[in-house]
Amino acid sequence: MFVLHKWLGQFCPSIARARLSKHSTDTTVRATVSGLDAFVDAANNEVGSLPYSVRSGIISSTVKTCTNRQMEPPIWARQDSARRRYVREMFSRVAPRYDLLNSLLSFQLHHYWRRRVVRMLRLAPDARVLDLCTGTGDLAIALARHLGPAGEVVALDFCEPMLRIGRAKAQRRGLNHTIWLQADALQLPFTDAQFDAATMAFGLRNLIDKPAALHEIYRVLKSGGKLAILELTRPQRAPVTWLYDLYALHILPRVGKRLSQADAYLYLPMSIRHYEDRATIAEYMKEAGFANVYYRDLTFGVVCVHMGVKQ
Ligand SMILES: C[S@@+](CC[C@H](N)C(=O)[O-])C[C@H]1O[C@@H](n2cnc3c(N)ncnc32)[C@H](O)[C@@H]1O
Repeated sequence: MFVLHKWLGQFCPSIARARLSKHSTDTTVRATVSGLDAFVDAANNEVGSLPYSVRSGIISSTVKTCTNRQMEPPIWARQDSARRRYVREMFSRVAPRYDLLNSLLSFQLHHYWRRRVVRMLRLAPDARVLDLCTGTGDLAIALARHLGPAGEVVALDFCEPMLRIGRAKAQRRGLNHTIWLQADALQLPFTDAQFDAATMAFGLRNLIDKPAALHEIYRVLKSGGKLAILELTRPQRAPVTWLYDLYALHILPRVGKRLSQADAYLYLPMSIRHYEDRATIAEYMKEAGFANVYYRDLTFGVVCVHMGVKQ
């Protein structure tokens, strides 16, 4: 049993953690464990650059750095302009393969998650909706299809290569009631109370100031306007957490490296790890002024939808 546990622990950090906490709490022992915990410990103490080496797609931790406690955190744990620049540049690089990787790595589930968000919003056909961090526009397109020509969708992102792909997809589908706009989600180029609803899919995790972004969204919503945030999350219950870690930390970076950009598909699981928990995001929404705030996990907690209404 112990041998099996030890072997599984190589691939799954939560198992390794359980094994370690049984046998030792010594940080130097933790740092020698292969897998994410050592990687995270190391990453948390690495200078601004990405603190890993990728050999054949495997994350190998730079455990030596564990000793240096004064250094800056890695990019996914930072909340500054360096992270903003990194995110914009990274999405510019992954844009051509973003849709392919999305479908492959989510087993096509991302379409289902977006449809759920659209249904949860219960929009009137003439609604004006803002889709923030729209990327290649799949949620904006789902919204535009759902509304029909009586409605309007403004699809906003700060990364032009992602927007370009979204705009082309909408044009091919004849969705002329979609407007594509390059702007920063933290400084929305709209006057107050413009939209009946706002959505954001897989964007909030990347924003360097989430409370500020939620205040901006609140400002541009009309009274009674709804907000839906769809975000990747870590499942909370074993054994789903173990399987998820195995997938997110070992399989996903390998596939990402082979088909797209290695660092982007390491940034992905690490940024999910550093994303605030569900209750904290709900709290940020309430602090921004939203009422009727609630959240719902989908697909065993692999994603979570937060909903709120402007009072
Ligand atoms: C993971 S993609 C999600 C794209 C799309 N919403 C989807 O469902 O596939 C995140 C997007 O957020 C955008 N983004 C990140 N920070 C942003 C910011 N401050 N302002 C505007 N867009 C931002 C990125 O350019 C990227 O296109």
